Amino acid sequence: MIKILFVCLGNICRSPTAEGVFRHKLNQAGIRDGYLGSIFLDSAGTGAWHVGSPPDRRSQEMALKYGVSLKDLRARKITRQDFSDYDYILGMDQENIRNMKAVCPPDHHHKISLIMDYAENCPGITEVPDPYSGGLEGFDRVFDIIDRGSAGLLKHIQAHHTL
Ligand code: 4NP
Repeated sequence: MIKILFVCLGNICRSPTAEGVFRHKLNQAGIRDGYLGSIFLDSAGTGAWHVGSPPDRRSQEMALKYGVSLKDLRARKITRQDFSDYDYILGMDQENIRNMKAVCPPDHHHKISLIMDYAENCPGITEVPDPYSGGLEGFDRVFDIIDRGSAGLLKHIQAHHTL
């Protein structure tokens, strides 16, 4: 089983959106996720402010417009154990990468990258910007960026693993 963890700061906007969007793409491709599937997905935050909370209402509304429900997800903080448990640990921006590398054991650093490292045909878009303090258009943009990153990630996973 391949385990993928999506990581942002609060785990209420970007990383739950990435988890939901990627799960949606997997299921559309006929790939089963979860404990009985070939891929296991989760998301986490580097901060603990929102632990136990569902995704931000704005992220939920934006995702639902595209047919993706985030309502059952709950925020949690990344743990040291996650770095050994997961195969791909995908940050949304460089701050997430810095925060993770500061606590990740060196032998697992190679698992950490930006989700947008996997995007195709997105020149200049290397990060998923934090939408929390901005307006709704920021959430729309975040959804679009995550959708592109997730599509590239799915291609990579299909090319490099037998599912
Ligand atoms: P996220 O957005 O990292 O995409 O979940 C944020 C959510 C909450 C905060 C910052 C970013 N916060 O400072 O509470």
